[in-house]
Amino acid sequence: MAKKIVSDLKVKGKKVLIRVDFNVPMKNGVITDDTRVRAALPTIKYVIDNGGKAIVFSHLGRVKSAEDVAKNDIAPVAKRLEELIGKKVNFVNATKGKELEDAAKNLKDGEILMFQNTRYEDFDVEANKETKKESKNDAELGKYWASLGDMFVNDAFGTAHRAAASNVGIASNVKETAAGFLLEKEIKFIGGAVDEPKRPYVAILGGSKVSDKIGVIEALISKADKVLVGGAMMFTFLKSQGKNIGASRCEDQEFVDLAKSLLEKANGKIILPVDALVNKAFEDTKGVAKSVDAFDQDDMGLDIGPKTLELFSKELAGAKTVVWNGPMGVFEMKNYASGTVGVCDLLAKLTKEGASTIIGGGDSAAAAEQLGYADKVSHISTGGGASLEYLEGKTLPGIACVDEK
Ligand code: 3PG
Repeated sequence: MAKKIVSDLKVKGKKVLIRVDFNVPMKNGVITDDTRVRAALPTIKYVIDNGGKAIVFSHLGRVKSAEDVAKNDIAPVAKRLEELIGKKVNFVNATKGKELEDAAKNLKDGEILMFQNTRYEDFDVEANKETKKESKNDAELGKYWASLGDMFVNDAFGTAHRAAASNVGIASNVKETAAGFLLEKEIKFIGGAVDEPKRPYVAILGGSKVSDKIGVIEALISKADKVLVGGAMMFTFLKSQGKNIGASRCEDQEFVDLAKSLLEKANGKIILPVDALVNKAFEDTKGVAKSVDAFDQDDMGLDIGPKTLELFSKELAGAKTVVWNGPMGVFEMKNYASGTVGVCDLLAKLTKEGASTIIGGGDSAAAAEQLGYADKVSHISTGGGASLEYLEGKTLPGIACVDEK
């Protein structure tokens, strides 16, 4: 069954609680990437353009101490929302209390209110003690936030893998819940790849560690037709085949053994790189392409090589569904970005040919955005951990709590 969507709700004159994921990267109070704020705009706009009163809220960072409270003030994000949406955002610097209740009560049709970081409820400043009320879905807190509005829209995919007071807690205390347009899109693309992928279905996995992605690798070797592996995790796999990986990054023996058993289980579905760009040090100086069978002891692999890109291109030819998570190399260094750029190009080409191409959140999403591929693939997920758990086939509480149509 399909989920109810914000456009199925009668929002006119109603106070609509909208949970977004504005957990954006910040440096000294300045937002360094506002993708998540932009991604939530269609839902907020829909509510206010249709005469609803939008009450917007999100977590920001992890709040375990008084310093975390100071560091994770969400006010700059409210400001950015105001700039992007071109409308006043009434910001309340509290997560509870009379000021917030009055602001919600007095909100007019078409207006926006945003309140402070929901994870401020994870720490009691006066008692100097962690309470985790938001993160552990405290029953009273969910009920309280629900009392501020008439209906609930969850548009926070990035945090859908966590059952918190601000998603599951509110949903169980309001009459109507719906997914926002962003959550709808994430369900359509990632959920679509999990439930009924058009075949051939090829997954591409990168990033540094096998140990971070065990669940998703296991799920993909059973569901996808091929799993292409790049990133530093390739060396854990290559070592498990007895290859000399020189000075390349590699995990502990336990994970080398695990990689070996994954290769056996995959029965030929896992495709490993045949060459890599190596350097003698972890630095952004020009590398040399070397076969994975010809590493010297001091060679450090920092990206997949050109022959591997050719191999990946062949394996991807004709694919109808492609899911990608994790960069192919140290793309932040210009000498080691070619593998990641190459995979972006392959995905862009397949998208043009009609394939559904999905980039799981986290580093590969940031890479694709930074490298200018945002509009050239079908979907870039806004969730890191959430997209991995969803791809694994797990039920995400933040999706499960939304009403069906
Ligand atoms: C994310 O950035 O992955 C989400 O916002 C969830 O954040 P968390 O891992 O701190 O719960």
